[in-house]
Amino acid sequence: MSAKRIIIAIDGPAGAGKSTTARRVAEHLGYVYIDTGAMYRAVSLAALRRGCPMTDDDLGVVAGECDIRLEPTDGAQRVVLNGEDVSLAIRQADVTAVVSQVSAFSSVRKALVKRQREIGEAGGVVMDGRDIGSVVFPHAEVKVFLVAGVDERVRRRLLEAQARGEQITESEVRQQIVSRDEIDSSRQESPLIKASGAVEIDTTSCTIDEQVQRILDLVEAYQKTHSIVSAHLGI
Ligand code: DC
Repeated sequence: MSAKRIIIAIDGPAGAGKSTTARRVAEHLGYVYIDTGAMYRAVSLAALRRGCPMTDDDLGVVAGECDIRLEPTDGAQRVVLNGEDVSLAIRQADVTAVVSQVSAFSSVRKALVKRQREIGEAGGVVMDGRDIGSVVFPHAEVKVFLVAGVDERVRRRLLEAQARGEQITESEVRQQIVSRDEIDSSRQESPLIKASGAVEIDTTSCTIDEQVQRILDLVEAYQKTHSIVSAHLGI
């Protein structure tokens, strides 16, 4: 019997290692990788470019008009917004500064969660974000909550920013991370929480290979149990 193509939900705060880990797990399994943070960033970019007022109604209109495509490239993911490659633009400081505010609006979440469910419901997907295991796919077969100490998360984000050639200091990165943690975890709509049934993995002193392997082990354990139960039930 071939393995069931499942949904793997990976949530956690900024810098916990979600995207690198999720992408590698997806590559290993031949699954699609979906970075939902990139979708919230794309809507934030569209809103900034239009000078959109930060209201639920206005942002809902912008979100509804955003055609966002996530296309796999060599070792990364291209983010295409209404036909334009915005992979770099969505990582810039202006977008990072507003994305937590924009993503707290229910109209924006409604539009993007609908799209995320359409993409992932057939399975064979690794999706990372803040509310995947709690709201988008509460029935995901494997749920992971990645965490890491704040110093380590700052260190990783600073290295990423420097690799993109950004002029940013460590204390600015720390401030961004602490402020986004606070907004993402305390908002009313789908706050960042460890979903029921999620396995917590602390990546502070893990290598990427170890993180990936921990998740692949969870997938294998699920597949074993599933095939035993299916055989027993004759399905
Ligand atoms: O993963 P990231 O740092 O690129 O995410 C950017 C922001 O998007 C994050 O601060 C909160 C928001 N987000 C969200 O609210 N829900 C998700 N599923 C993913 C991201």
